[in-house]
Amino acid sequence: MHVLGISCFYHDAAAALLSDGILVAAAEEERFTRKKHDSDFPENAINFCLRRAGIDAAQLDYVVFYEKPFIKFERILFTAMQTFPKSTGLFREAMKNWLTDKLWIKGVVKAKLGLADDKILFSEHHLSHAASAFLCSPFDKAAILTVDGVGEWATATLGVGDGTDIRISSEIRFPHSLGLLYSVFTAFLGFEVNEGEYKVMGMAPYGFPRYVDKIYQMIRLGDDGSFWLDMDYFEYHRSPSRAFNAKFEALFGPPRRPEQPFFTRTSGYPSYYESPPFNFDELARQNEYYADIAASIQKVTEEVMIKIATHLHRATGLRRLCMAGGVALNSVANSKILRDTPFDEIYIQPAAGDSGGALGAALYAYHSLLRQPRRFVMEHAYWGEEFSEAAIHDFLKTRQIPHESFDNQDRLVSRSVELLEQGKVAGWFQGRFEWGPRALGNRSILADPRRVEMKDIVNVKIKFREPFRPFAPSVIESASEKYFSLALPQNHYPNRFMLYVVPVNDASQDLLPAITHVDGTARVQTVRAETAPLYYQLIETFGQATGVPVLVNTSFNLRGEPIVTTPDQAFSTFSNSGLDFLVLGNSLITKCR
Ligand SMILES: [Fe+2]
Repeated sequence: MHVLGISCFYHDAAAALLSDGILVAAAEEERFTRKKHDSDFPENAINFCLRRAGIDAAQLDYVVFYEKPFIKFERILFTAMQTFPKSTGLFREAMKNWLTDKLWIKGVVKAKLGLADDKILFSEHHLSHAASAFLCSPFDKAAILTVDGVGEWATATLGVGDGTDIRISSEIRFPHSLGLLYSVFTAFLGFEVNEGEYKVMGMAPYGFPRYVDKIYQMIRLGDDGSFWLDMDYFEYHRSPSRAFNAKFEALFGPPRRPEQPFFTRTSGYPSYYESPPFNFDELARQNEYYADIAASIQKVTEEVMIKIATHLHRATGLRRLCMAGGVALNSVANSKILRDTPFDEIYIQPAAGDSGGALGAALYAYHSLLRQPRRFVMEHAYWGEEFSEAAIHDFLKTRQIPHESFDNQDRLVSRSVELLEQGKVAGWFQGRFEWGPRALGNRSILADPRRVEMKDIVNVKIKFREPFRPFAPSVIESASEKYFSLALPQNHYPNRFMLYVVPVNDASQDLLPAITHVDGTARVQTVRAETAPLYYQLIETFGQATGVPVLVNTSFNLRGEPIVTTPDQAFSTFSNSGLDFLVLGNSLITKCR
């Protein structure tokens, strides 16, 4: 039985295909269209899934949409009416957007895929999130927590998964939303909403959470973690473009200017900006204020999440937790939930945000509606498209790109390690691309983590990104505990997907300056030989050569672009950046200098 899940028309569009309950393929649309966070109907991702399964659309048994458009539309209309006339803009925008494809998703699916009405099913937004975590977790029974901006009405749900059943026991409803609260601060700090949340998380360690009390002036928090926002401070429920209002600004001052360079007195002036401004101290103090705000919203988010999770544990008595929704991508909060609540194990799959709704919708329909037994655990993130050696060779030949080809994997690895050890930066392109926002060793930029200058080199030559965003390490699982403070990493999943931020052990912080964040932590990826044999071998061999089986791993893309999908995109990113060498499958390309 083939079940296709789809998410689109809000954030990241995606498709995921299950064949007899086993995931065959899953991918976000942006990887094909090259439009970051593309939310359009995921035609390319669907075609890829069908191609990978070797079927055409007529062979699909069900197509499942990840939310219920009419209920969502009702929420938007209802909110607009309640806040009328202030919400006139929101109302107009909603009409324009919703009276087209969004509301008539069934017709769109029918038209695009040529399917009958009874083959098209709908899940609910948070149920899709819940299913996307629990139904591909290794747990028979677990508590489930979903937290995001908003779905139809829910912004957070609590429940239990048992076998193939998911029961949601309580929910928090729009406009009260932890995800939207974080996004309000993302906007206030000068970043793009739904994109800059990582930047807030990265900026937080440069500040102190001095303004936690001010943030709590806007939130009423129950003992069970339920919360209500004082909507007098916010605009998102009545405006399509404004997140906060004058009352918010009276509390926190003027918002940070977008694209303003970030530095503090601790960070100093980054060497790759132009020369320091004459008013360095004044600007540094301003940035420190905003870093304190970032630290404060991060802390409040962690406290609320811990409170909800603690309540969920008390209510269910369960020791395992599945999480999904955009807030479950907050890897700093995730590791604190593991540390500070009685849950022993947490499962989060790599596409925990809205793209993961496609996977959840398919899983929910197959297991919970069609009562089929569970047969699949998501052990790794490699569910995207791959390119054969023949295709890579064709590409290199057609473009007449000089390269070395290795028919022996050991030699490819040792040559790559030799270059990495010399301080060269690699574009590493192998196998199927990753599901979710993180590159986990198949579409990665790799470098030596021991070099203090490596952060600047990668930033200046390749990523052109904000200096406060840390680079993450990949470490072989068996050596992880030597460097990072996460006991028994083999017993946990989020660290496979870079979804925990953990302390770097004291003795290793000086050893690994390129991946140690300013607060002594790192967003670690532990790599297993079973699921990523070549990547494992590369890091292990780097370890044999240097004594440190750790690499800097950042996503293979230029700033503002989606992660590369094809050899062509990998090569053009290589050519247009300061990358020193590129490994495409078994072929190695270096720059002629
Ligand atoms: Fe969501």
